[in-house]
Amino acid sequence: MKKAGLILIAALLVILSACSGSNSAGSGGDKKKTIVMGTSADYPPFESVDTVHGNKIVGFDIDMAKYITNQLGYKLEIKNQDFNGLIAALNSKKVDFVMAGMVNTPDREKQVDFSQVYYPDYQVVLTKNKNIKSLQDLKGKKVGVQLGTTQETLAVKLNKTIPMHIQRWDKLNEMTEAMRAGRLDAVITVSSVAYGYTSKDKSLKQFKAIVGGKTQFDPISVAFPKNSKLKAQFNKVLKKMDKTGKTDELAKKWIVNQ
Ligand code: ARG
Repeated sequence: MKKAGLILIAALLVILSACSGSNSAGSGGDKKKTIVMGTSADYPPFESVDTVHGNKIVGFDIDMAKYITNQLGYKLEIKNQDFNGLIAALNSKKVDFVMAGMVNTPDREKQVDFSQVYYPDYQVVLTKNKNIKSLQDLKGKKVGVQLGTTQETLAVKLNKTIPMHIQRWDKLNEMTEAMRAGRLDAVITVSSVAYGYTSKDKSLKQFKAIVGGKTQFDPISVAFPKNSKLKAQFNKVLKKMDKTGKTDELAKKWIVNQ
């Protein structure tokens, strides 16, 4: 009898401590559902690791994701990895969505779903070689592109008429450093990313990639696993952000050449 009483008290104590534990962990008691975002934090101003302030991942995509998921009542968790594996991460449900300056291409659309476009951009050549002034000048040169990107697709297309030595890199920031160190003649990236480098280092310049008279646009969207309910939820918030000017506000905060 005495023993049973003690066991009962012990059990109550366990329950009580579990309750108080969850209360102090959650905000206001009810726990938010965690949602996981995949990104490749090598692409400032969209996403990069802030090495000065505790290695946090920061950028336009991160602020956009924080805002959207907060509006939808989710708790955001960010997973950082190489860009080339992001579609596979979505398909194997390792992440719930991807924001990584990613463009909706017909090829990707076969595997994943995309939100509406939330930022337009265009492709450029970034170089410090004074003799490289047009795409033609890339002939015979070592040109870096990030693996699995629309920049790689563009380089492969250009290569048919302007034979160059395409070098594929996993990480864009490392590739750009290699170009600055003279190990690559040029890299292909997008204007907002290139501007982050040209604005700080006057020995670097960028020019628009124009193919057949056409600017090579690189408009970015959020990616989801096929048939994910998140697509409609995100689009709703993105539309609202367009109307209220929130997207513009965040773009102005992060993207200098807006
Ligand atoms: N916009 C290009 C693409 O969709 C490159 C994106 C690279 N993003 C990154 N976080 N490194 O393929």
